[in-house]
Amino acid sequence: VGQQDAEYLVSLVRSVPGFPKEGIIFRDFMPVLADPKGLKILLKALEEALPVSPSEFDSIAGLESRGFLFGPAMAAHLGKGFIAVRKAGKLPPETIGESYDLEYGTASVEIETDAVQAGKRVLIVDDLIATGGTAKAATDLIEKAGGTVVGFSFVMRLDGLDGLDKLDGKPSSSLIAMP
Ligand code: PRP
Ligand code: ADE
Repeated sequence: VGQQDAEYLVSLVRSVPGFPKEGIIFRDFMPVLADPKGLKILLKALEEALPVSPSEFDSIAGLESRGFLFGPAMAAHLGKGFIAVRKAGKLPPETIGESYDLEYGTASVEIETDAVQAGKRVLIVDDLIATGGTAKAATDLIEKAGGTVVGFSFVMRLDGLDGLDKLDGKPSSSLIAMP
């Protein structure tokens, strides 16, 4: 992503100290989506920064909930399908799940047992990588279901948390780094 576009995206991210608990600075990217120019830059930059060529994956998996906000748009533009990786308890059976630790708690992610066809290659997308726990759990889940995760596209990465180290050496891109 060009420096000017990156700076524009950074200028739109709203930083909220103390949410959802003390010691966390919450990085809210909703204003990027609300801004017509920001949204256009975001989708273009995500596609230009893809960590692997579009020919190397079949589907995009978005992580609930903020990965749902741009994953389907990316998938449609690239001619791919979209898989929703949900938080536990939202989907009817049969599901498979994977638990993980979050910067501020613990959680599990789930998909329907037939959401990923065997051998499908999947790109995971989310707004932000912090500890990497969510992305790692989603990777394990998709691979347990028979798919292969080929890479990750993030809008933001939080510096100092080593989240990218959790991604099993798979390629990733992130448009902006935040402290
Ligand atoms: C946030 C963010 C990522 C995850 C990153 O989601 O959207 O999914 O945390 O943290 P990690 O790298 O430490 O795992 P959150 O769990 O707050 O859920 P939400 O998108 O539904 O608000
Ligand atoms: N998910 C994990 N850490 C976060 C943060 N600091 N801001 C927004 N989402 C997050």
